[in-house]
Amino acid sequence: LSYAQILGTGSALPTRAVTNQQLADELATQGVITSDEWIVERTGIRQRYLANPDETTTALGSQAARAALSAAGIAASEIDLIIVATSTPDQIFPSTACLIQAELGAVNAAAFDLQAVCSGFVYALSAANSFIRAGQARYVLVIGAEVFSRLLDWQDRTTCVLFGDGAGAVVLGASPEPGLLACRLRADGRQAKVLTTAGRLAKGQIEGHPFLQMDGQAVFKLAVTVLDKVARECLEIAGMEAKQIDWLIPHQANIRILQATAKKLGLDESQLVLTVAEHGNTSAASVPLALDKAVRDGRIQRGQTLMLQGVGGGFTWASTLLIY
Ligand code: ACO
Repeated sequence: LSYAQILGTGSALPTRAVTNQQLADELATQGVITSDEWIVERTGIRQRYLANPDETTTALGSQAARAALSAAGIAASEIDLIIVATSTPDQIFPSTACLIQAELGAVNAAAFDLQAVCSGFVYALSAANSFIRAGQARYVLVIGAEVFSRLLDWQDRTTCVLFGDGAGAVVLGASPEPGLLACRLRADGRQAKVLTTAGRLAKGQIEGHPFLQMDGQAVFKLAVTVLDKVARECLEIAGMEAKQIDWLIPHQANIRILQATAKKLGLDESQLVLTVAEHGNTSAASVPLALDKAVRDGRIQRGQTLMLQGVGGGFTWASTLLIY
């Protein structure tokens, strides 16, 4: 039985960075009042990247994938499977994975999208791991790509300041050396309403509320209660302890949630990879964006133990423990 190992990482951000102050000034012209101070204090976010119309989920995902393929030294034609975690596909179908496959020329790959909102990338990593361990794929491209700005109600200050756009990717390859050690996926559909885009497509139009809606406090409470628990479940599967973790790479929604989780696990804040200040919440893209940043700036080294965590709409949450 092979392990699934991360062979290369990549990421992509839209060209336009928007600071809190710029956003606050722009929103003020629509009568929506917010401030840099409020956003930083409550969330840790200082800026986010917002996509132009041509910076689609497919375009950002393809750019991140090319960077990951290049880092891995793998040709697109060698990829057996592409899994794209996204809740903002460019079209209902074909899947973003198929559109990215065409962009890359990954002609030998199967391709599908996976939707678990902000847990999507960690879910997708687990799915890819299963394909590799079952011998069904040798090289898998796992992408988290989102253009959440398309789902935002810019009149709703409680949500529109929180999110950004971007994409991250990894190439996973079959290896005799340990890579992914354990995955734990969780969901609770009874909490569907705390974070939702409730509108439905009918007769060519969206019926009902078309934008993202969130009960921020309920999401906050759920996130802080489940994240350390699922991390411990994952450690238990691998027969490891929290103190063996070198880097914690959680979904980047709110700095207070991330700090609380690190503390509960007995990890130092310096072991947290944090990108929420620069990127905001990029949903399924946030974990691979953070991973790629810390790999490229040299913090994450080969042989180190990483805990990746997602949490979000559904409600869904998940952890993956791996040797990089
Ligand atoms: N600017 C200024 N004031 C604001 C803003 C804003 N952007 N948004 C809300 N406020 C006001 C509110 O109206 C409220 O005013 P009031 O007291 O006069 O009624 C006040 O600020 C406090 O609002 P709260 O909602 O109580 O603020 P809270 O401290 O809970 O912070 C936040 C809100 C940041 C959303 C927090 O609850 C949070 O981070 N929750 C988790 C969100 C999260 O992680 N979401 C992503 C999940 S991942 C996914 O799947 C997408």
